[in-house]
Amino acid sequence: MKRLLSFTLALSVLACAPKTAEGPAYLNPSAPLEQRVADALSRMTMEEKVALTHAQSKFSSAGVPRLGIPELWHTDGPHGIRPEVLWDDWDQAGWTNDSCTAFPALVNLAATWDRDLSRLYGDCIGQEARYRKKDILLGPGINMGRTPLNGRTFEYMGEDPFLAGELVVPYVQGVQSNGVAACVKHFAVNNQETRRTATNSVVDDRTLYEIYLPAFRKAVVEGGAWAIMGSYNLYNGQFNCHNKRLLCDILKGEWGFDGVVVSDWGGCRDDDEAVTNGLDIEMGTWTNGLRGAASDSYANYHLARPYLERLRDGRATEADLNDKASRILRTIFRTSMSKDPHFGSFTSPEHFAAARKIAADGLVLLRNDGTLPLALPEGGKLLVVGENAYKMMVVGGGSSNLKTKYEVTPLDALHEVFDTHAQVVWERGYVGDTTTVYNKVWTGQDLGESRSAQQLLADAVAASRDASCILYIGGLNKSKYQDNEGTDREDIVLPYGQDALIEALSATGKPLVVVNISGSPVAMPWAGKVNAIVQGWYGGSESGHALVDVLTGTVNPSGKLPFTMPVALSDGPLRSARQYPGIQEEGTEWWQEYYDEGVFIGYRWYDTQEIPVQFAFGHGLSYTTFEVSGASVKRSGDGWSVRATLTNTGKVPGAEVLQLYISDTEASVARPAKELKGFEKVYLQPGESRQVSFAIDREALSFFDAAAHRWVAEPGEFHALLGTSSADIRADVPFTL
Ligand code: GLC
Repeated sequence: MKRLLSFTLALSVLACAPKTAEGPAYLNPSAPLEQRVADALSRMTMEEKVALTHAQSKFSSAGVPRLGIPELWHTDGPHGIRPEVLWDDWDQAGWTNDSCTAFPALVNLAATWDRDLSRLYGDCIGQEARYRKKDILLGPGINMGRTPLNGRTFEYMGEDPFLAGELVVPYVQGVQSNGVAACVKHFAVNNQETRRTATNSVVDDRTLYEIYLPAFRKAVVEGGAWAIMGSYNLYNGQFNCHNKRLLCDILKGEWGFDGVVVSDWGGCRDDDEAVTNGLDIEMGTWTNGLRGAASDSYANYHLARPYLERLRDGRATEADLNDKASRILRTIFRTSMSKDPHFGSFTSPEHFAAARKIAADGLVLLRNDGTLPLALPEGGKLLVVGENAYKMMVVGGGSSNLKTKYEVTPLDALHEVFDTHAQVVWERGYVGDTTTVYNKVWTGQDLGESRSAQQLLADAVAASRDASCILYIGGLNKSKYQDNEGTDREDIVLPYGQDALIEALSATGKPLVVVNISGSPVAMPWAGKVNAIVQGWYGGSESGHALVDVLTGTVNPSGKLPFTMPVALSDGPLRSARQYPGIQEEGTEWWQEYYDEGVFIGYRWYDTQEIPVQFAFGHGLSYTTFEVSGASVKRSGDGWSVRATLTNTGKVPGAEVLQLYISDTEASVARPAKELKGFEKVYLQPGESRQVSFAIDREALSFFDAAAHRWVAEPGEFHALLGTSSADIRADVPFTL
């Protein structure tokens, strides 16, 4: 309605303005973008420019009604379009036409290691945002997996900056091809949920530039992201929603970012810094950033009344204001007023098919003694144990919560496939999270349970007696201290007594397949006692179909872990409160978190320290086998071409991800044993071979020299390591710089 009103107003303005051939430039879609921006800016009052820079409702920031320039509508989240909310509310408004396609969690997308699927994902979710008339999609999230305990690991793309960077680019381009801005988050070094609004990340420059910035840099420089979200935490003593170094010096300076910086909701904390340190749109804040409720009206936001006061008394400059306003206008002309009309599409069969394919291609077969693919004899009985076979997982988890048109659970899909000729019986096995509502979105399930933990376990074991096979489907969920925004996990041990339950099921001697549904690593002390293990993710609307597609072999698994599965949390690089979750220190009210481990996170830590892990970064099996041969490294222009041949040596078609790691064995600084610098996912028929080549440049050999503030590749010997995981290196080719 507001858009129609503003457009009508624009027409009335035109009626008064002197008639010219094509009308004002800003309304002329074929005028160059920067001309439209400049023309609109020249027509605006100071008050109208200031209104652009802050929220006017929970998820919208103002436009210019007098000029017929519509407001900007922001929407969560990275996995699907959040249900409509009331003007100033977090809860859903109860519309009956905003149930979306729930796409898989981004960690599931990362596990596909497939750039094309990432583009498909971005395009589909961008279509849904456009159809729902949303201009800024608050995602993707690409914070690095520094600790497996991070509650939002499921929303991010793993522990390696190269993998996340390579996948975020096509996602952003897909979203933006629909006239919707991707708002890449949370910038930056925001790697935990514990005290996320009160923790200062203390990070040295080499670590910042080698680990925590690269994926954001690619999203901006290669992906062309139109928006970036500042994060809640502080970096080197300044809040990130107005962090001068991150936003002005690096993002807008070094990287030339021409889009908008949006604060996280409630992340803006200071009147003066909000004006000068690179923030363009202040969202969701109450005046002191932490107080709640409508009493702190939008007119009191840091970039509202306080900003007007500073402009009027000279403490703030019109130049800063014009830069903010120009960036916001540029975003409007790129989205709702784009020169190319976009209409999007919503909950189409194509979107659900895409969700199913992405979910399936990201499932990771961790272990298999041949029990998978699952086949049941005529009249056989499949015993399914575990709450996650039944519990719907799209609802919950924080701001990525969705109201979806439908969600196929694993149990639904198993019945579909096996009821025709076998018996599928479900035993809950344990009680995890009985919540079924979040932000007034209700799954419709009843997860109540009267039996005790002991009874539940006994019932599951008893039901196994005449079973042909046991399929365990458990793991985590999106409740507090699990995979959940706002809280971190407390350990990587499976909760709810699941280890004991799995051990008891293993002791029955029946074939036992374990599916761990989680968004983050879990300990698997029973890994050697079960026949097969699949790492399942929060797969969205089609998660059940995707899982059963893989379990039955309809889809040959090809996913690879985007993070390391350690044996125990204590094996990891964070060994003190100072490193995680942070400590209090004299002289500051904020918690201090020291990234003492430097660049050594994830496999960079485990491989360099030679610490055995449960399953390695990049690990994932198939129902076929692959061979790597003929590896070579040759000079090519200023860089090198690394080649190898991949052959499907098994009996069924399948895909392998050939990974290229670079190792610098002699350097003036401590460097990780290996670092991912290339990957290609190759689909091959049985017996088929394909040559894969990687082009690498000097930067791929470099480390970041903080003192010189540049990338440095030191002469000497390097190794090109080609493998199918960070631990399964099939070829090592030395070469010299
Ligand atoms: C939340 C999240 C952010 C989300 C925003 C709006 O606090 O940190 O990812 O997009 O607020 O819901």
